[in-house]
Amino acid sequence: MSSIKNKRILDVLNGLPVDKTPVWIMRQAGRYLPEYKATRAKAGSFLDLCKNPELASEVTIQPIERFDLDAAIIFSDILTIPDAMGLELKFEDNRGPYFDSPLNNISDIKYLSNKNIETKLEYVSEAIVQTKKKLNDEVPLIGFSGSPWTLSTYMIEGSATKEFRKVRSTVFKDSKMLNELTKKLIASISDYLIMQAKAGANILMIFDSWGGLLNTENYLHFSLNPMKEIINNLRNNQITKNIPIILFTKGGGGWLNKIANSGCNGIGLDWTVDISIARKIIGEDICIQGNLDPCALHGKEEDIKDAASKIIDNYGHGHKHIFNLGHGIDQYVNPDNLEILINHVKEYSKKYHKN
Ligand code: CP3
Repeated sequence: MSSIKNKRILDVLNGLPVDKTPVWIMRQAGRYLPEYKATRAKAGSFLDLCKNPELASEVTIQPIERFDLDAAIIFSDILTIPDAMGLELKFEDNRGPYFDSPLNNISDIKYLSNKNIETKLEYVSEAIVQTKKKLNDEVPLIGFSGSPWTLSTYMIEGSATKEFRKVRSTVFKDSKMLNELTKKLIASISDYLIMQAKAGANILMIFDSWGGLLNTENYLHFSLNPMKEIINNLRNNQITKNIPIILFTKGGGGWLNKIANSGCNGIGLDWTVDISIARKIIGEDICIQGNLDPCALHGKEEDIKDAASKIIDNYGHGHKHIFNLGHGIDQYVNPDNLEILINHVKEYSKKYHKN
């Protein structure tokens, strides 16, 4: 780990001082980059790209070659786990990812397998191995998974929907089913994250994109506590016992004090939360990652810089901030605007890291 040349993000997560605020971008390998589109076309489809280690590693390093980023994130998707558990994942360009046969009741859960996740998802560990070679220890590599709750939403709804009525009703109508599913997902996700660390991931992130759909009691039961169990599993494993872990609950601004006690090292913040208030709630032991509104990247140069400066000013002095967006970058962003943002964060944040 210590052989990595740019350790800024690892230093922040380990409580060490840095010279400027590190930055990476959620969905940094994606459709806003023409080189991503070219590789995706070569692969044939989004899923073919996910399952092709050579091409997946190629798109992982594309943003690193273009921008002054402090980390790479392995190109994959959170829905590879349900696919490996037996719920076949499909993808259509104008529809996004979906499952043809979503889960309806508790008897559907027993057909899901959490056995041999490492073998079924070997294409991800192979992509990590190939990416590590290509990165040549320049920056750390982030591995990731969806949270049990967020994977459950897709597995029960079939795809992202407008109201998520089916899964939100399941919470109340059939919590037994959801508990069974959650248990299986905790096991699969834990194995999957350990596998990624074994293959070379230096940081692990859990995406809880839909945690914000739940009330507090159900958020704790179906989302945060399962994520805590995963963290415990990682802490009890030789390979992952010290690995930095970042949790990101989109819409989780009301639960930051609880998330801060989960055992994670960093918390991802969406853009609805003021970072100075978040810092007060979270305290100084846990890092904060975020939290620019992705749509700020559609502004003019000065708009982008002003929006980023406000976040850096609001965080203020200190070394526990990783700059990022509050959610993934969208496909319509001009890559030149992202370059403006990244270079500005590097330059502007220096004044907060003296001494
Ligand atoms: O961040 C990165 O660059 C790593 C790659 C990554 C992807 N998906 C690639 C992707 C990561 C970390 C994800 C996570 C993911 N996938 C999440 C959690 C984070 C979040 O955004 O909330 C979720 C909910 C998914 C499920 C998913 N995958 C959806 C809803 C979609 C369609 C919407 C969209 O943005 O297109 C995807 C497809 C997807 N995953 C793309 C990429 C680059 C676009 C696919 C394409 O090439 O057409």
